[in-house]
Amino acid sequence: MTALVVVSHSDPGSLTHHVARSVSDAIRTAGGTVETADLAAEGFDPRFSDGDLNLFRGTGTTPSDVLAEQERIDRADQLVLIFPMYWWSMPALLKGWIDRVFVSGWAYDITAEYGIVKKLDRLTVHLVVLAGDDADSFERHGIDVAFRTQIERGIVEYCGATVGSTTFLHETDTRSREDLAAEVADLGSVLAARVAGSQKVLAH
Ligand SMILES: Cc1cc2nc3c(=O)[nH]c(=O)nc-3n(C[C@H](O)[C@H](O)[C@H](O)COP(=O)(O)O)c2cc1C
Repeated sequence: MTALVVVSHSDPGSLTHHVARSVSDAIRTAGGTVETADLAAEGFDPRFSDGDLNLFRGTGTTPSDVLAEQERIDRADQLVLIFPMYWWSMPALLKGWIDRVFVSGWAYDITAEYGIVKKLDRLTVHLVVLAGDDADSFERHGIDVAFRTQIERGIVEYCGATVGSTTFLHETDTRSREDLAAEVADLGSVLAARVAGSQKVLAH
């Protein structure tokens, strides 16, 4: 299996990058191939600009940086998105990556005859979300349910991809790396097994 691990965080020393490295190592140990997309280090421009709008309106061509992202997703059968939760959602950098890359014509088509044609059915997507808040708060506020609606259904399944797993790592700001070590290691090996088996699981 070939995984594209997309990490959205400006600090290479952050917990998010640490988790991304741990997950990537575990996938490699499980026999998979990993390509990494470090959106901040690579300077991906998340702004949805005129070129993107023209493409969406059917009057332009795919911007070259978007094409490069689509090509590396095309090389993978597993897409692993690793990011900190910001305002009950994803960082603007990753949202912009989705806005610009998951475009009509490549991720889906809308036709008069068939309606929405989903085009990413060969892809399984795994989400690894780091959150400052705890699991009780997520349940109390319905954050995990909202997340499933907005991101799993609204983005992944809209394009016909399969949700492989969603894993939340909680209390990231209040627990030390040492406190989190066992959970991070477990997260990596469980995710690697899921990537290998591509089972649909929702974990917390
Ligand atoms: C702009 C911003 C918004 C945040 N919003 C949330 C949030 O809505 N829910 C939450 O649980 N944590 C939130 N956090 C906390 C981050 O998720 C947390 O700092 C991160 O997971 C820690 O990982 P890192 O060390 O890799 O940055 C937010 C942090 C920032 C900077």
